[in-house]
Amino acid sequence: MKLSSIAGVVGESPTLNLNAKTAALKKQGLPIIHLGGGEPETPAPLSAVEAIIKKVQTRKIKYSPATGGPELRKAVCGYTKSFYGFEAAVPNVIISSGAKQAIYNFLMCAVNPGDEVVYPVPYWVSYPEMVQLVGGRPVPVAPAKGIESTFEEIQKAITPKTKAVMFNNPGNPAGIVYGEDFVKKLVELCEQRGIWLMTDDIYHQLVFGGAKTPSPFKYAKNPDNIVAINGVSKVYGLTGLRIGWAVSSNKEMIAAMGRVQAQTTSCNSDVSEAGALGALTGPQDCVAELVQTLEENKNILMGEYKKIKDISVTEPKGTFYSFVDFSKYNKDSMALSEFLLEKVMVATVPGACFGLDGYLRISYCAGKENILEGMRRIIWALDKDAREPLKIGGITVQKDW
Ligand SMILES: Cc1ncc(COP(=O)(O)O)c(C=O)c1O
Repeated sequence: MKLSSIAGVVGESPTLNLNAKTAALKKQGLPIIHLGGGEPETPAPLSAVEAIIKKVQTRKIKYSPATGGPELRKAVCGYTKSFYGFEAAVPNVIISSGAKQAIYNFLMCAVNPGDEVVYPVPYWVSYPEMVQLVGGRPVPVAPAKGIESTFEEIQKAITPKTKAVMFNNPGNPAGIVYGEDFVKKLVELCEQRGIWLMTDDIYHQLVFGGAKTPSPFKYAKNPDNIVAINGVSKVYGLTGLRIGWAVSSNKEMIAAMGRVQAQTTSCNSDVSEAGALGALTGPQDCVAELVQTLEENKNILMGEYKKIKDISVTEPKGTFYSFVDFSKYNKDSMALSEFLLEKVMVATVPGACFGLDGYLRISYCAGKENILEGMRRIIWALDKDAREPLKIGGITVQKDW
């Protein structure tokens, strides 16, 4: 039997695969350090847990409204007002099973086969695949210098076939915060050219040293082409709930996304929605605490990088990832990542998965001890002069390279 052409085009998620691979190796008893992860280690906010328990105790676990329960949608309106300064009403909001589904719904409703979707490199691993799933043509825009594409580079990539521009702020994998100037110009450009602008803001509160992710709504004369994506996965560490959302002043777009969702997943888990509502309406200190922990972790990691010669590090301004140029050690990031996993049992994500080879994505959401231990191993593995064997738990690793 032949599979569809789309089934042949869509690739696996490298990050989810890495999670599965490291979990399997850990299960075999190997002392793996996972510095490739994409979720905070912090326990779920109590308000979310209590809301879930309360919901479960009703013993009513049923289908819920296709586009999300009205209470959660209202809470998202409040969140949007606070963080974007945009006055959304319930019909401007759709709740989805994770930000990922919200992004996919958006692309389904914005892109016709052959339409181009422009986004900066390095990009989140799923963007090219999702664009292809809806029949679009991914147009990644690589920066001429370093790891941050400029507005002018994005502008040059826009053609009459461009249907949407999307970007993640702050960005996975490099922790780049696109500032006022970039966002303002991009909003103006997309509005002028009648192009959709999707901002993926899933890490937006996870920023350091006073950095701010500007609200795209602030610069639009008519924001009807803007769709902002967010959710509880990263900021509240609630990746397992699978709750995200999209907000737009364009009710037609939100309604279309709702129809797609209704015909594909019917609705979200109402238990998860209860948890997300608990997180959004409960005490918010957990977010500040998470930011503080991540910033401390990031500073520790930056200190460790100083011990490695010949790498190029751009300090992240947000998220919980760093994206480091290891090309002087190996231009092939897949090979380098595999080498580190095989030789010193540290998991990292190859830059090639994000569109930039020669780099590795190293996360700092894994806890201080893991960061220090993982970096101890990486430093040893890459240091030509370190000839003494390395002790990893009960294992002694000899250098054969
Ligand atoms: C940039 C970006 N957008 C969206 C998502 C998906 O978020 P969710 O888990 O809510 O689907 C992720 C998850 O890693 C991400 O990194």
